[in-house]
Amino acid sequence: MLITEAELRARVTALGAEIARDYRDLRPVLVGVLRGAFLFLADLARAIPVELETDFIGVSSYGSGTRASGQVRITSDLDRVIQGRHVLLVEDIVDTGLTLAYLRRTLEARRPASLKVCTLLDKRARRVVEVALDYVGFAVEDVFVVGYGFDYDGLFRNLPHVAVLEGV
Ligand code: IMP
Ligand code: MG
Repeated sequence: MLITEAELRARVTALGAEIARDYRDLRPVLVGVLRGAFLFLADLARAIPVELETDFIGVSSYGSGTRASGQVRITSDLDRVIQGRHVLLVEDIVDTGLTLAYLRRTLEARRPASLKVCTLLDKRARRVVEVALDYVGFAVEDVFVVGYGFDYDGLFRNLPHVAVLEGV
């Protein structure tokens, strides 16, 4: 066990309140990065009591298992045109930063009014490229986590808490 259900709930509520203050009247588009961020986005959106829209972008970092190769591709794109919109990218975890750096470049090219990033977890020690994070749920050590959206080869996403997977 790394982060309990109660700790997740409390932190997500606090992040939601902070985001609500910053985005009041801006009608932001929350963009969840699939698949890992689907639970976090669902809880976060309910913790932000202002008008907002939600959308999703699917990315795949080639390869399975616990290590990303750094090569990213979009597997399903946004439904919306985000030009002129205030976009908040909602990520599950920033590890090497390669996925986020790619997403940022791709979404910036569509000229949103603003683009900020909210990540549930920040695994700082593993960073390969510097990426700016605007809202961070928890900082974590260099461990492999599962649960609350995080998977190992597709499994464990449905755990209600975040746990460390040992032996990988
Ligand atoms: P990046 O290395 O920052 O590009 O992160 C790539 C992706 O690897 C993340 O969005 C996660 O989907 C996945 N990932 C990184 N660390 C973990 C982990 O500890 N558990 C599960 N997935 C992870
Ligand atoms: Mg991911």
